[in-house]
Amino acid sequence: MTYRIAPSLLSADFAKLGEEVAHVIASGADWIHFDVMDNHYVPNLTIGPLVCEAIRPCTTAPIDVHLMVKPVDRIVPDFAKAGANIITFHPEGSEHVDRTLGLIRDSGCQAGLVFNPATPLIWMDHVMDKLDVVLLMSVNPGYGGQSFIPGTLDKLREARARIDAYEQKSGRRILLEVDGGVKVDNIAEIARAGADTFVAGSAVFGAGKDSDPQRYNSVMASLRSALAGV
Ligand code: DX5
Ligand code: ZN
Repeated sequence: MTYRIAPSLLSADFAKLGEEVAHVIASGADWIHFDVMDNHYVPNLTIGPLVCEAIRPCTTAPIDVHLMVKPVDRIVPDFAKAGANIITFHPEGSEHVDRTLGLIRDSGCQAGLVFNPATPLIWMDHVMDKLDVVLLMSVNPGYGGQSFIPGTLDKLREARARIDAYEQKSGRRILLEVDGGVKVDNIAEIARAGADTFVAGSAVFGAGKDSDPQRYNSVMASLRSALAGV
């Protein structure tokens, strides 16, 4: 099993974003998770396509854009042009989920649906052929630093079963990502429930002393070694 770790820039130092991206990738991160909040779909406001474009030259790692916005479609081509590799969105944010998935893929990115804690998995059933990623929220979206909701473990097992059944039938792979409250002490349990891709914001960017350019090495190594024991 290959696991991917995607540090969320939400908890990075916004005054040094390019440096933060470079340092966290040098410490062994696989993807950069890029949280887009619009103060409408979620009660917070973060970063958009201009910031994505600005950090694009800082790494060759995939940029995983998590859209917490409503509506979704208007902004998709802007993120594709800004260098996003993966774009995920919440079904509640789009009037036409199948169309939005098609739009993301037509713009050259991988596409994914995001499930809030209370959003049922049936949203994926009729669009499996257009999904590259399924992202389960293990907190309510809007803020970093919240606690992992334990019920997500059962939901992950259910999502894993659906994805495995689809993979067997189609031969196509869909990643299962989890976002919110992922830490060194729970990542193994989350992996055992079926996740293969892990967003971690405060756990990674909250680690170490500000002045140390290697400060993410040890937390990234701890996350990896917890995963190695799964
Ligand atoms: C929450 C965001 C998450 C958040 C995770 O709405 O989607 O990506 O940054 O942060 P932690 O890992 O601190 O829960
Ligand atoms: Zn996120």
